[in-house]
Amino acid sequence: MKGVILHGGAGTRLRPITHNGPKQLIPIANKPMSQYALEYLVDSGIRDVAIILGDLYPQKVKDYYGDGSKFGCRIEYIEQGKPLGIAHAVSLTKDFVNGDRFIVVLGDNLVSDSIERFAKNFNGSDFDAFLLLSHTSHPHDFGIARTSDEGKIVELIEKPKEPPSDLAVTGIYFFSPQIYDHISKLKPSKRGEYEITEAIQSLITTGGNVGYEVIEGWWKDTGTVDDILAANRLVLENIDHNFDDKNIQGKVSIGKDAKISDDSLIRGPAVIGDNVLIEGNAYIGPFTSVGDNCVIRKASIENSIIVKNSVVDTDSIIVDSIIGENTKVMNSTNLKPVGKRMIIGENSIIYI
Ligand code: TTP
Repeated sequence: MKGVILHGGAGTRLRPITHNGPKQLIPIANKPMSQYALEYLVDSGIRDVAIILGDLYPQKVKDYYGDGSKFGCRIEYIEQGKPLGIAHAVSLTKDFVNGDRFIVVLGDNLVSDSIERFAKNFNGSDFDAFLLLSHTSHPHDFGIARTSDEGKIVELIEKPKEPPSDLAVTGIYFFSPQIYDHISKLKPSKRGEYEITEAIQSLITTGGNVGYEVIEGWWKDTGTVDDILAANRLVLENIDHNFDDKNIQGKVSIGKDAKISDDSLIRGPAVIGDNVLIEGNAYIGPFTSVGDNCVIRKASIENSIIVKNSVVDTDSIIVDSIIGENTKVMNSTNLKPVGKRMIIGENSIIYI
């Protein structure tokens, strides 16, 4: 079997963070979200992976993943450019897949369960496609499946007004090469994209055998800032190192050469990257990820992601935030008149 990771898309809902890179490189617990997708594939025994690149700094993706050898696989890159839809991205993999069965993972989807068992079952099965479904309390926001008692998918409905179930289609798809015939017949949808749900629906309508399983653990599709913070919380919960020190407490992972001053406090779940400096009575509270080479001075931070190479040097309390790479957050106490000074890019959101 082969593996495919979708790394394109516009990432509009995550601007300005996606102004200088694809959303799938945003770190969750200090690891790019698409690396989780790659690990699901490699842990399932897949050794040949294609990464579909969009037009947002695709070179950054190539620089990070290289030829795949650091991650235990071979990686081929396929340029999609403009985001014409998930089905369009999948159509570009036909030569790479070369008649094999394959798994597609959206590079911004995270799950807690291993997918190894599903991969093995699918490979030895006569299913033409197989979907992982997850119970959702927001069925109006997702592709929803109607299922039969025989464990098959009968119908897929995108963002239904009257959902036939609470079973959302997650971003992990198992396909046989038959899917390409159905993609080739698609026309762009109302939103101008080639929709993978329509291709799967066409497979079902023409008698294709499409199975499913409902995953037990959590699934997170990280399209918005709140989704990313939620995914960060879910992953940080799994840290297995438990500290009981004066200034490091609970589930915390500390990187190489990180320095934490005696007057600072880290209360997990939290991850602190390599070469981080935390000092000046700083407080890193639950559900916070601090990337490599960051300096946190004086600040109190909770439920937030501070991406690598950033400095947060302020008396303020920072909550529910994503602070992008190479950013400085400083005190404004010396300004005359007393006020807030901001140097902010377009599409930013500031709560003051
Ligand atoms: P979406 O989250 O639906 O789209 P997006 O990334 O463009 O985000 P936004 O709506 O905020 O603009 O995409 C789901 C996943 O599929 C995501 O990992 C990006 C990927 N994708 C592609 O690789 N190519 C595409 O043409 C599209 C539409 C998505």
